[in-house]
Amino acid sequence: MKVNPVFCALDVVDSDQALDLAKSLAGMVGGIKLGLEFFTANGPAGVRALAAADLPLFLDLKFHDIPNTVAGAIKGIAPLAPKMTTVHAQGGIAMMRAAVDSAAESAARLGLVAPRILAVTILTSLGQAEMDELGYARVLGDQVKRLADLAQRAGVGGLVCSPHEVEALRVQCGADFKLVVPGIRPDWAAANDQKRVLTPRQAMAKGADLLVIGRPITAATNPAAAAARILDELGHDA
Ligand code: C5P
Repeated sequence: MKVNPVFCALDVVDSDQALDLAKSLAGMVGGIKLGLEFFTANGPAGVRALAAADLPLFLDLKFHDIPNTVAGAIKGIAPLAPKMTTVHAQGGIAMMRAAVDSAAESAARLGLVAPRILAVTILTSLGQAEMDELGYARVLGDQVKRLADLAQRAGVGGLVCSPHEVEALRVQCGADFKLVVPGIRPDWAAANDQKRVLTPRQAMAKGADLLVIGRPITAATNPAAAAARILDELGHDA
């Protein structure tokens, strides 16, 4: 059976609402993604409460600090047993290596499977004008590729990348590097604030491994039915 590639972004602050949503999606999604909004409001206890939904967890906290601090933060979330978590590639190769090592050591100590560390290259909210403003000499696309190379050399397990980047990164990074792609919109869903979107099928065809999909599922009248429709379009059985 194929792995369900859809991780639903639960971008809500209320943990009861998140739990209701997660429970309703059990069996329909491959996992849930919780980010900074949820984590800063509800903390590790809020994440633990969601364990009742029994879904794999992508804890997207985008760590970016000195290597020792990031290693400590990864150790701190290890008991929550996330399947994946994120760091900024711009933190540098030593920081990414520290995250990977800490994930392995912390999980081993707890008898858990280590979370996959994913790197974020350049936030999709930054365009060329912002890159120029920040003083980057390279064009945006080249900077993304350079950071992807650095991430791979650091030993992280994959990248979060935009629909716009996935095809080139799949070629650059090879088949075994996980590419996790947000900015996904089925053709029946509103784009909201996402600018360059792909449908789930298009993103998979361009080389995505996992799809992060939020509002097309969470804002639907019937979230489970929306997730089932996406699965159906991807040729999956629920
Ligand atoms: O609701 P929607 O499908 O747009 O949610 C996408 C999720 O992916 C959100 O949690 C958003 O923060 C996240 N994300 C993104 N673009 C990125 C990185 C993360 O939309 N480049």
